[in-house]
Amino acid sequence: MEFFLDTASIDEINRYKELGLVDGVTTNPQLLSKEGRDPLEQVREIAAIVSGPISVEVTHTDPQRMVEQARGLARVAENTVIKVPASMVGLTVARRLKEEGIKTNITLVFHPSQAVPFIRMGAEFISLFVGRVEDFGLDNREHIRRIRSMIDEMKSPTRLLAASIRNPDYLVAAVTDGAHAVTMPPVCWEKVYNNPLFNQAELEFLESWRKLPPRVREGYESIALDREVAQNAS
Ligand code: G3P
Repeated sequence: MEFFLDTASIDEINRYKELGLVDGVTTNPQLLSKEGRDPLEQVREIAAIVSGPISVEVTHTDPQRMVEQARGLARVAENTVIKVPASMVGLTVARRLKEEGIKTNITLVFHPSQAVPFIRMGAEFISLFVGRVEDFGLDNREHIRRIRSMIDEMKSPTRLLAASIRNPDYLVAAVTDGAHAVTMPPVCWEKVYNNPLFNQAELEFLESWRKLPPRVREGYESIALDREVAQNAS
């Protein structure tokens, strides 16, 4: 299971890399535009700090221009993967890129049917947009399972990427329901580790502990230090 970070922010990538949560990065035109600088420079900088796949999306809508843009983006760094929309135009483009050995991440997949031809042609990734469906009160967890089973059925090398993740439960669903990778926006990792029950319990334990007189706590708290002193003396 790979964890990608869904952001174009260098600060966030560096921060989450320290936590071991950046096996790759996914961007889109909206995420790149938020950074407010030359998007190509931004992608180059990301590529300098991340060795796993970095998804960058084409912004043209004409197939020929999309192919040309994809070729250029693929040359920006050797680990770039080109995001191509899951449409008929995208199919034309992805097939041509496949012939040229350029890796694609098929994006904006809202229903498994969109993914079928791309799985058959062996696109590198299929990005199933989970959260944008959930925004309408619909549960598309089932689609994770269905797309994975189509990949297995067709013995395709395509990897399923659970994308557009909004809440911690979808991280768990991505793992248990068969996605090969999940791309998490930093705000969602924050939600995972900002659980009010956790915060309250941690506070409660430490508050009780701090009620002990310092001399009683001392041995327990300085145990690592004592061991270091003993080791240095031996
Ligand atoms: O990889 C998907 C992502 O780039 C877009 O997701 O959060 O805008 O629905 P979101």
